[in-house]
Amino acid sequence: MPTLSLAIQKGGSGKTTTAINLAAALQQLGKRVLLVDLDPQANCTQSLGILEEPEYGMYELLKEAGAGETADVAKAVRATASGLDLLPASLELANAELEMVSMYSREKLVKQLLRPLEGRYDMILIDCPPAVGMLTVNALMASDYVIMPLQAEFLPLRGVKSFWRTLEKIKKQLHPSLNLLGFVLTKFEPHKKMTRSVLEQLEVDYAGLVFNTRIRTNIALAQAQESGTDIFHFDKNANGAKDYLALAEELLKKLQL
Ligand SMILES: Nc1ncnc2c1ncn2[C@@H]1O[C@H](COP(=O)(O)OP(=O)(O)OP(=O)(O)O)[C@@H](O)[C@H]1O
Ligand SMILES: [Mg+2]
Repeated sequence: MPTLSLAIQKGGSGKTTTAINLAAALQQLGKRVLLVDLDPQANCTQSLGILEEPEYGMYELLKEAGAGETADVAKAVRATASGLDLLPASLELANAELEMVSMYSREKLVKQLLRPLEGRYDMILIDCPPAVGMLTVNALMASDYVIMPLQAEFLPLRGVKSFWRTLEKIKKQLHPSLNLLGFVLTKFEPHKKMTRSVLEQLEVDYAGLVFNTRIRTNIALAQAQESGTDIFHFDKNANGAKDYLALAEELLKKLQL
């Protein structure tokens, strides 16, 4: 049951959009996928149509697990309208960041929480907040793979370098089998000079670590989110659907799944 985090310490880079639509694309390809919303902004949860604060979600699970109680992860899984299973987030999850500091085995709480789901899914995707705190560290510790969605407008790439170094440090010191799969370019506009120069720079600095599939700018992706669903249920002919399907295929090939 491979687990993959979408993470980067940069807001608005396409983490949530990629988590939702990559999950939906994998589902289109017949895979059983669980989405985990580990961001207190709860964008993933709300974009999948769950607008009310979940009564039993990631926050409650973390709190129970951190207190040494048995958390019922299966009870927290919600079936969304688009047929994806989701472990929802709430704004309260921001408190977990602080509360976890004093908890036992705090970096591994999410890993521990997901364990009872072993065998139920072909892939778990975790949507991370745009910061390197306890939540992101937990996501990485629970993951086999990490992908960094990156908007190709972003220059200089200094922030990216610092996040990459953080990932390498976590891999080296805490989780040697973590696989840094690299970057997926989002909101891609090939005719823009800036986009091309970011891509060239990335391919020099991170050779072999940039996915061939680029996610083009596509308004339907934002509209799907506003309508509380994924791109395939919103407009399966949109460029966004084609791009995320191509990304899912590239990922499965890379992971030999
Ligand atoms: N390929 C795309 N085309 C058009 N709009 C997009 C695309 N990808 C993302 N967006 C839009 O850009 C905004 C930011 O994307 P998203 O929420 O996925 O980023 P994020 O990295 O999760 O942000 P945060 O760091 O705040 O969690 C959203 O409004 C989303 O709908
Ligand atoms: Mg997000």
